[in-house]
Amino acid sequence: MIHFQALAEKYDTPLYLYDFDYITTQYNRLKEAFKAKKSLICYAVKANSNLSVIQHLAQLGAGCDCVSIGEVNRALYAGVENYKIIFSGVGKRDDEIREALEKDILMINVESEAELNRVEIQAAELGKQARISIRVNPNIDPQTHPYISTGLHENKFGVDIDTAKRMYIFAKNSDFLDPVGIHFHIGSQLTQLEPIKEASAIVADLVRSLKVLDIDIRFFDIGGGLGIRYEDEELIEPYDYAQAIFSTLTGLDVTIMMEPGRYLSANSGYFLTRVLYEKVNGDKRFVIVDGGMNDLIRPSLYNAHHHIEIIGKGEDEEVSECDVVGPVCESGDFFAKNIALPMTRHNDLLVIHSAGAYCATMSSNYNTRGRVAEVALGGGEDRLIRRRETFEDMIALEKDYLKKD
Ligand code: LLP
Repeated sequence: MIHFQALAEKYDTPLYLYDFDYITTQYNRLKEAFKAKKSLICYAVKANSNLSVIQHLAQLGAGCDCVSIGEVNRALYAGVENYKIIFSGVGKRDDEIREALEKDILMINVESEAELNRVEIQAAELGKQARISIRVNPNIDPQTHPYISTGLHENKFGVDIDTAKRMYIFAKNSDFLDPVGIHFHIGSQLTQLEPIKEASAIVADLVRSLKVLDIDIRFFDIGGGLGIRYEDEELIEPYDYAQAIFSTLTGLDVTIMMEPGRYLSANSGYFLTRVLYEKVNGDKRFVIVDGGMNDLIRPSLYNAHHHIEIIGKGEDEEVSECDVVGPVCESGDFFAKNIALPMTRHNDLLVIHSAGAYCATMSSNYNTRGRVAEVALGGGEDRLIRRRETFEDMIALEKDYLKKD
C-alpha cells in the first residue's frame, strides 16, 4: 500500500516514485527462471537510468546493457563491475569505443562491418584485444509496435546471418578482436513467445556453425523486450521464456545474457501529478494537470496507454469522458484521451501507472520545465534519489555566455 497523498505532500508534484521492492521481485523472478543454466541479467539502463535504480540492481547481482559511453559511465559510477557491462547500439563514436576499451568492459556489441573496422582500429591503437559480440538481425517480426520493433531487415539494427559470419571470421583472424559473444534483440514490449524462440533458434544455429570454424561463442545474448502489463496484455511467463531459449541451445555451453529494461522497472513506477483545473471547449472536457509530455512522453509519442487513478474518489461517483492534458504548448501533450473520470477539483491527485521505464529517461526541459524529482520506496521507507531541477540548473550551461555589453 503506497501512501500517494502523503508522498505528494512531502515531495510535491509532479513526481516519480519507484518501488524498489518490486524491482527486486522482478529481477529474482527472471533469474530464478534461468537458474538451470549460467545466466547474467544486464539491465537495459535506458529504461530508467537513475543512479540509485542501477545501484539497487547492481546489488542484486545485475550487470548493465548500455547504449552510450554516458550510460557505461553511469553504470560504473553506480557500482556495476566493468566485467558485467556491455556496450550496444547502432552507432558509436571512436572516442566512445576507445573509452569502453580502456575501461575494459565485458564486450562491445557490434552492429555493422564498418563498426567492426572502427573497433579494430581503436583496439590496435591501444594495443588491446577488443572483446566483441555481433548483433544478428534474424529477420523476425516480433508483432509489437512498429517504433519498437527491431528484428526485421527493414529496421536499422544488426546484420544478417551471412554478414555476421563474415564478421566473425574477420574478427577471429584479427590480432585486436576477440569474438566472444552473439546478440539479438527483436523488439520491445514483446507479448508473443514464438518470435523470440524462432530468433533464438536461428542465432543458435549460427553459433553451431561458428564452432565448426573454431570460433567459440561463450555469451549468448537474447536481448531484452519482455512485455509488461499496461492494460490487459497477455504476458510471457519467465519460466516459459527460459524454457523456450533452453530448447534452442542443445549442445551449446554458453552463458545466457539478457537485457531487460521495462520488465524490471516499468511497473515499479508511478507518476504523480495534481489537477490544476478543468475546462470545457464546446462539448469537450479537459482535465489539466501539472505534469506534461516533457515529463512523460509515451502517450504522446506512441499513443501508449497508462492507467490513471484519482486518489480519494469513490467508485460510485458519476463519471464523464475527458482528456487528461498537461500545460505544454502542444496539442500532443496528453496522458489519456476520451477516458471516463469523475469531476476533479484543484489539487486532486492523479497517479499515472507503469511509469518506471522510458518515462523519466525520456523527459526533457521543453518549455523550460525542470525535470521532476524521483523517490525510491522500499522496506516501508521513502527516499529522494533525484532532486527536482531548479531554474538555476536549467540555465547553468548558458548563463555565462550572455553578451556583457
Ligand atoms: N536491448 C536492446 C538492444 C534494446 O534496443 C532495448 C530497448 C533493450 C535491450 C531493452 O528493451 P526492454 O526490455 O526495455 O523492452 N522508448 C520505447 C522503448 C524503446 C526500446 C528501445 N530498446 C518505449 O517507451 O516503449
